[in-house]
Amino acid sequence: MPTTAPAPLTTLEVMTKQRVLSGVQPTGNLHIGNYLGAIRNWVAGQAQYDNFFCVVDLHAITVPHNPATLAADTYAIAALYLACGIDLDYSTIFVQSHVSAHSELTWLLNCITPLNWLEDMIQFKEKAVKQGQNVGVGLLDYPVLMAADILLYDADKVPVGEDQKQHIELTRDIVDRLNHQYGQGETVLKSPAPLIQTDGARVMSLTDGTKKMSKSDPSDLSRINVLDPPDVIQTKIKKCKTDPVRGLTFGDPARPECNNLLTLYMLMSGQSKEAVAAECVEMGWGQFKPLLTEAAIAHLQPIQTKYAEITADKSYLESVLREGRQKAEAIANATLTRVKQALGYSLPL
Ligand code: AMP
Ligand code: TRP
Repeated sequence: MPTTAPAPLTTLEVMTKQRVLSGVQPTGNLHIGNYLGAIRNWVAGQAQYDNFFCVVDLHAITVPHNPATLAADTYAIAALYLACGIDLDYSTIFVQSHVSAHSELTWLLNCITPLNWLEDMIQFKEKAVKQGQNVGVGLLDYPVLMAADILLYDADKVPVGEDQKQHIELTRDIVDRLNHQYGQGETVLKSPAPLIQTDGARVMSLTDGTKKMSKSDPSDLSRINVLDPPDVIQTKIKKCKTDPVRGLTFGDPARPECNNLLTLYMLMSGQSKEAVAAECVEMGWGQFKPLLTEAAIAHLQPIQTKYAEITADKSYLESVLREGRQKAEAIANATLTRVKQALGYSLPL
C-alpha cells in the first residue's frame, strides 16, 4: 500500500509541541529490550512531540570500551534509529560527543550535585560491583551527564525503560537545586518527566526471567538482538528458559519467564493482551515457541531490511548527523549560556 508522506510541521506546531529527548549507548548490539522499552515508544509518539534522539557515546566510555569500534557502533545505533522508524520530519538525530555543551554542562552540574546522590544510584551500584577495584569516576558521574543531555534541550518528556527512572528523578532534583540556589526567583532549567510505558518497560533475559535483558550479559543467548538473523532468533527462542507448567498465563509472579515471553509475543505480534491470554491459556511451550519465533522474525525483518539500505549509503547517514548536530547545537548552546549567566560567569567576548 502506498504511504503518504507526513505533512511538514508548521512553525506554530513546532513551537507549541512539547520537547522529547532520549538516547541509547553505542555499546554492543541493540536488543529487543532497548527496542521495546525505548525506541518503539519514541517512534509511536514522535508526531506528537518535537524530538531529539542522541547516540550517547560519552556514556559508552564509562565502562571499559574498544576505541577500534566506538565510531562504527555509534553510526550503527544512529542507523538503527532510522531503521526502527524515527522520522526526520519529526525528529532530530545526533551524536552526543559532537555537541560539546554536553560535557561542559556536566561540569557545571557536577559542582552543585552532592556526592551521596550519585552513590545512591542503583545502576551505579550494580555496575560498580562488576568493575571491582577499577571503578572510574565517569561511572559515578554518568547520571549527571545524562541530566545534562536532558536539560540542555529543555526536554518536557524523557521516554525510557523502567531502569532509567531513578536517573530522571535525580535530574529533577538537580534542576530544583540549581533553580533554588542560582535562579533568583527565575527558572533557569526546566524539570523533565519520565515517559515509561507499562508493557515492555522491563524486558527480561531469555535465560533468567528474573534478570533484565542487558547488552552486558556475557551470554548472547540471553537476548534477541534487533539485527539477529532468523535462524539465530529461532535458536535463542528454542533454548530459552521456560517452566514445567502447562497453560500459559500473564500475571503469575511465580512464573517470570512465562510473563516475559507472553509479553514479548504480545508486543511482537501486535495483538492485545486479552487476545494473547485467550490464545495461549491452554498451550504448552512446544506449541508457543514457534509462534513467538515467527512473530519476532516478522516484526524485526522490515527493520533489518531498512538498516541494510541505510548503511549502504554512509554519506546519507553523515548528512543526517551533520544536520542533527547543527540543530542540537543551537539549542544546547543557548541553554548553556543561560546556566553560565545564572552561575555568574562572564561570557566569552
Ligand atoms: P542502554 O542500552 O543502557 O543505553 O539503554 C537504552 C534504552 O533502553 C533505555 O531507555 C533503557 O531504559 C532501555 N532498556 C535497556 N534495557 C532494557 C530492558 N531490558 N527492558 C526495557 N528497556 C530497556
Ligand atoms: N542512561 C541511558 C541508558 O543507559 C542512556 C541515556 C543517556 C539517556 N542520556 C540519556 C536516556 C538522556 C534518556 C535521556 O539507558
